[in-house]
Amino acid sequence: MLKKKLKILMASAEIAPFAKVGGLADVVGSLPPALKKLGCDIRLVMPLYGSIDREKYGLKKIGSGIEIYFGSGIAKINLWQAKLPGTSVIAYFIEHAAYFAAKEIYAKKNNAERFLFFSLACLYILPTVKFKPDVIHCHDFHTALIPNLLKVSSYEYFKNIKTLFTIHNLNYQGKTEIEVLSTGNLTKDSLKSLTQDARDGDINFMVQGVLNSGLINTVSPTYAKEITTSFYGASLDNIIKKRKNDLCGILNGIDVKIFNPQKDKFIKQKYSVGSLNKKTLNKLFLQKQFGLPENKGIAVIGIVSRLAWQKGFELITEEIVKNLDCQFAVLGTGQPKYEKQLRQITKKYPDKFSAQIKFDIKLAQQVYAGSDMFLMPSRFEPCGLGQMIAMRYGAVPVVRAVGGLADTVSDFGFRISDPASRCGASFGFKISDLQNATGFVFKKFDLDSLYQALERALFVYYEKPKDWRQLRINGMKKDFSWGNSAKEYLKLYKKLI
Ligand code: GLC
Repeated sequence: MLKKKLKILMASAEIAPFAKVGGLADVVGSLPPALKKLGCDIRLVMPLYGSIDREKYGLKKIGSGIEIYFGSGIAKINLWQAKLPGTSVIAYFIEHAAYFAAKEIYAKKNNAERFLFFSLACLYILPTVKFKPDVIHCHDFHTALIPNLLKVSSYEYFKNIKTLFTIHNLNYQGKTEIEVLSTGNLTKDSLKSLTQDARDGDINFMVQGVLNSGLINTVSPTYAKEITTSFYGASLDNIIKKRKNDLCGILNGIDVKIFNPQKDKFIKQKYSVGSLNKKTLNKLFLQKQFGLPENKGIAVIGIVSRLAWQKGFELITEEIVKNLDCQFAVLGTGQPKYEKQLRQITKKYPDKFSAQIKFDIKLAQQVYAGSDMFLMPSRFEPCGLGQMIAMRYGAVPVVRAVGGLADTVSDFGFRISDPASRCGASFGFKISDLQNATGFVFKKFDLDSLYQALERALFVYYEKPKDWRQLRINGMKKDFSWGNSAKEYLKLYKKLI
């Protein structure tokens, strides 16, 4: 326990279970209780979107008509409060209809403006709730201008508040017209970093967060290294390099209370390492849910994902589906072109491939519980939570060696052309023995590499059932809870103050 309670405010556009699009929500919804356990006074703040169920989560209004002075005048906000479900962590919600009444977290346009307003509001509510944080922990571009706002403010209350900026995804940068700055009472002359940024005609929120926050981290050690290269740096590698001494990677955890096959209420049959055979019932149920032939003998490959460029759906082709002896159960929503592609494959190979184009938390957990393998062929992956959840549910991940996938999945290293030898090295992987291996990893982002990885996995699944069982057990026994990572975050907070 800490001697003095560290006060932390975490500001995020998404927090599970209140409002979620992707992994950002899961992280901000599950890291705080672990920090609380370590003795932090941690509070959360997010916008009150129209989709947030006030009754279900017991939101209470704690402030009305709080005035925010900004560019074009005075805006009024209401402030609501609730506890993060199942915990004692306080979450604040900023109500401002003009920006947040819609159900969607992300609007078609003006996101930079909406979230700059939110960032400003995060500061304005502090005196009202009488909370002066030691550190404001900002997440992704949406809250990346909080450090700027603190730097330019002369308000005594904000003095000495430090900032940590966590990058969950460098590719969403919040590029916007310079005029939007006025929403935060800023101009291009407010800070040197803004003047420089404005030279190319726009302002990039991500750039500002990187340059102005006290410390920066990404959500896995490998991604922290990758983003200093031109290949993964999303055109910001040179900016990131300027701060490389203040940058580190901390692996995400998952909420092991929610993702627990022994207790999961959403799945057909609960099971554990000791009763792995019961997983078969979940598999048959999954096949039924997805309209696939119910056959416990065939390998089922699960995918749960946002359908975005990052996730590598170009590699999920008809050819792969046609040639491999397995079934695919795919769940996700996102870019229309990927939705279309998945619908087309479903139509063409209804006995082997089934995609449900929706966001469905319950069905997602059923996919993890019912699949034999879990596929993530990502182009880049800052951390990735799906592979960890899959391992916890005894589904063996097949992943590309990038970012957090490389940090969490250990390759079995089995070569199909020479089944007697574990010669992962010839694929360019480190050889991992059966004691430690948890999945199948491929390096290059191309069809051949994915195909080979799936072939290797299917070979072990069909021909080496004992090894397969061990792989699943290895994954299920891994500790993906937040304990260790929360300690790393605590170290960063302490370094800041
Ligand atoms: C983003 C990243 C994903 C990461 C998540 C939580 O969604 O794309 O890799 O796991 O944020 O940090």
